[in-house]
Amino acid sequence: MKHYKIAAIPADGIGPEVIAAGLQALDALARRDGGFALDVTQFDWGSERYRQTGAMMPADGTAQLRAFDAIFFGAVGAPDVPDHITLWGLRLPICQGFDQYANVRPTRILPGIVSPLANIGPGDLDWVIVRENSEGEYSGHGGRAHKGLPEEVGTEVAIFTRVGVTRIMRYAFQLAQSRPRKFLTVVTKSNAQRFGMVMWDEIAAEVAQDFPDVTWDKMLVDAMTVRMVKNPRSLDTIVATNLHADILSDLAGALAGSLGVAPTANIDPERRYPSMFEPIHGSAFDITGKGIANPVATFWTAAQMLDHLGEPAAAQRMMRAVEKVCAESVMTPDVGGTATTQEVTDAVCEAIRAENI
Ligand SMILES: NC(=O)c1ccc[n+]([C@@H]2O[C@H](COP(=O)([O-])OP(=O)(O)OC[C@H]3O[C@@H](n4cnc5c(N)ncnc54)[C@H](O)[C@@H]3O)[C@@H](O)[C@H]2O)c1
Repeated sequence: MKHYKIAAIPADGIGPEVIAAGLQALDALARRDGGFALDVTQFDWGSERYRQTGAMMPADGTAQLRAFDAIFFGAVGAPDVPDHITLWGLRLPICQGFDQYANVRPTRILPGIVSPLANIGPGDLDWVIVRENSEGEYSGHGGRAHKGLPEEVGTEVAIFTRVGVTRIMRYAFQLAQSRPRKFLTVVTKSNAQRFGMVMWDEIAAEVAQDFPDVTWDKMLVDAMTVRMVKNPRSLDTIVATNLHADILSDLAGALAGSLGVAPTANIDPERRYPSMFEPIHGSAFDITGKGIANPVATFWTAAQMLDHLGEPAAAQRMMRAVEKVCAESVMTPDVGGTATTQEVTDAVCEAIRAENI
């Protein structure tokens, strides 16, 4: 029996609700499979810890996580703590400290879920967005001078390196190559941003030489939003900068029915460090504690985690169970249902147990 060490960091808001649901489904999967076990360690890091100690996680937090095979993460964000503190105090130090440079965000319309797009259903929208996760606009490069004075200045410098762009482009071409359509769309803003973004376009063309079987095209990010809404069937794999893909993937989640069904994986492709798996959504103050958070994004990211750990059969079993339960309309209110988080979770666990494949 294989044992995987999982660090669970539920953190804030609905994070603990969806991580509890995800762990319940993972437990059902491991029992059903019989070939692996997950040894889960829970970490109580997050905004409550910040209120008590002044830090979201201990100073040696990433060193503690280093020994795990994967990190299963909820969400950060609290109404009384500034967002840049919660994000830079926990989630970003893990992504950056472990060089999880590929952020992989699949989007599909699941059976039973209605897209806000007319006449678009399962099969019509099947994308994977690859977000550069280590540099760009979120590299933390910038500063403030003359604070509080009329002449105050704030800079937020977007960093693009040849190493960083080449490795994410290579990852995206490989991913596109592994999918049936073998089609990649490279998103930039190289008309207005003449330096880093033009370099992105040039590196895309260079890397493309090594993938002659992958068809690719280019889009400016503003036009990309239109294409996603007007012509979703024309897209498959997408690669974009940290900021652009952050925004586009929220749009993708909404077009697939709800942010509550959108997963993400923060991957270190070289496997030097643990990778981190989380739903895309945040801590959702408006529904925290109501028991109606959609756990599907967390189930889906759990499937990504199993794939990464080398358990693709269990990952596929998870997604079959999720699709069955959605198709039967056992869904939370954000996607038009009346079920609670626990009811959806119990239904998914039952589908996992009952499946006779
Ligand atoms: N990765 C992260 O940890 C992350 C990501 C985004 C936002 N945040 C933080 O979360 C806090 C709230 O941010 P926000 O409101 O902009 O984004 P949000 O994702 O928390 O919520 C946006 C909307 O989507 C709904 N929603 C989100 N997840 C849902 C789910 N699983 N089921 C049903 N509905 C769901 C919410 O109810 C809300 O109406 C902020 O502090 C923000 O900084 C954290």
